[in-house]
Amino acid sequence: MASKLKQPQPLLSDLVSGMSSVPSNYIRPANDRPNFHEVVSFDGSIPLIDLQGLYGPKRSEIVKEIGLACLNYGFFQVSSHGISEAVINNMLDISRDFFHMPESERLKNYSDDPMKTMRLSTSFNVRTENVSSWRDYLRLHCHPLEDYIQEWPTNPPSFREVVGEYCRNARGLALRLLEAISESLGLEKDYIDKALGKHGQHMAINYYPPCPQPDLTYGLPGHSDPNAVTILLQDDVPGLQVLRNGKWVAVSPIPSTFIVNIGDQIQVLSNDRYKSVLHRAVVNCDKERISIPTFYCPSPDAMIGPAPQLTDTDSFTHYRNFAYSEYYEKFWNRGLTTETCSDLFKTSHP
Ligand code: OGA
Ligand code: NI
Repeated sequence: MASKLKQPQPLLSDLVSGMSSVPSNYIRPANDRPNFHEVVSFDGSIPLIDLQGLYGPKRSEIVKEIGLACLNYGFFQVSSHGISEAVINNMLDISRDFFHMPESERLKNYSDDPMKTMRLSTSFNVRTENVSSWRDYLRLHCHPLEDYIQEWPTNPPSFREVVGEYCRNARGLALRLLEAISESLGLEKDYIDKALGKHGQHMAINYYPPCPQPDLTYGLPGHSDPNAVTILLQDDVPGLQVLRNGKWVAVSPIPSTFIVNIGDQIQVLSNDRYKSVLHRAVVNCDKERISIPTFYCPSPDAMIGPAPQLTDTDSFTHYRNFAYSEYYEKFWNRGLTTETCSDLFKTSHP
């Protein structure tokens, strides 16, 4: 599959204007489509956790809530998270401005090499996939910021400043959540922090243009995230769906909140106590949509495996140890599939 020779794929945002049907390379097979009539829209289904008081007398209560959400859902939303509305709105605005720039300006950042630390691309991995997804995206590495910021786009002119400020804030929130998640597992609060080695932080700015036939394609097909934890900022256009009890549940955006989901590495560290849940993005006929996941991850050389404290007594070790770089390369090369990448690292037990 990887050896297939292809022309570089044009950006979707430059193809769509005036398009009345979806080009054939975006059409999913009939057994793998969004099936909108089967999607559940029940707003109360993903817990909303108020982080106000996380550093006060209510800490143990909030940590417990986070633990239950990780255990039972793998997904939750947070409010009173400490990131100001100005930082959030500036980030959304600059993202929109970036994707509205002329093609020639945006294309300066184009690459289809998934190992590049800064790139504008389209779909998921155009080098290996057979069916494309209705998405363009800019991917950035964000930590340590000073190592990467000079490779970011210089246009719009305030891009680096605005996005840098957002990244610092998102990292702060990620660290607070990782401590709480550690504690909720009964581990030292810095256990996950240490397990991630030097820490990595990546960000995608996903741009989903309106789509003439949203029932035939995905913005992103079902997948779990390969990193430790994801903090998703999105605009007010719905599109995210989460698999729960075998059904896709639509998550309606709530302004000024973030969606947090457990990624594969916390699933592994927690020895499967916490699940990295399948989710997907669907598109619609009328409105463009922007979503901005911060993928908080181990450093490439961090060795990841189940926490020994969670593998004793009656449970067993569900995964072998691996370097995160090994996991990450597998994730990008095999394409988004509903068998999560972590299955490849499972140990076999009677
Ligand atoms: C992702 C993702 C969801 C969305 O980029 O990994 O799951 O709503 N995005 O765009
Ligand atoms: Ni995802």
